[in-house]
Amino acid sequence: MHSIQKKIPENLKVISGNALRNDDFKMLENYFKTDEEIIVINEGLLRYLTFEEKRKVAQNIYELLSKYGGIWITSDVTPKKFIKSQNNALMNFNKNVNNITFRNAINDRFEDENHIKEFFGDIGFELFEIHKFNEVKDVLYSIKELDIFDDKIEQTLEDAIVVVMKVKK
Ligand SMILES: C[S@@+](CC[C@H](N)C(=O)[O-])C[C@H]1O[C@@H](n2cnc3c(N)ncnc32)[C@H](O)[C@@H]1O
Repeated sequence: MHSIQKKIPENLKVISGNALRNDDFKMLENYFKTDEEIIVINEGLLRYLTFEEKRKVAQNIYELLSKYGGIWITSDVTPKKFIKSQNNALMNFNKNVNNITFRNAINDRFEDENHIKEFFGDIGFELFEIHKFNEVKDVLYSIKELDIFDDKIEQTLEDAIVVVMKVKK
């Protein structure tokens, strides 16, 4: 067993808000210093939003990064082909998510990397790094600790990517 760090860092703040609302992003600025760059990280949100909703979230992040500088790291650019590998590995997962949330539609997915670049490029972002999940498979905590690595996991991770974006100069 690994020991769990009990001390909560003083600079960890949990703020509730709606990522679609620009005013909620403004609240965050109370916690930023004007002379420090920021990093926006998110997972598991954009893939469930329509392209119109994704655009609103991206525009809110664009506004923040334009002001403070820094980068946006997200795996929420799930391409359509990832759904196929996810369906093969996790039977019914996507169907269940659809049924429970009425979200997760295939039409809300990116076609491919070009589509991702075009969509975020239109908003003013530059994709300067694209990483495959498989790059970190050897250090994934659950896989290592539970010794559950197999071909299925490798195949599932194959089409999943993380992008790193910054505001175009
Ligand atoms: C699939 S989970 C993400 C999981 C998360 N990355 C984690 O590791 O726990 C989706 C999350 O997005 C939140 N969410 C949904 N719509 C949102 C919105 N418009 N603004 C902010 N969060 C939202 C949900 O409440 C939920 O906690």
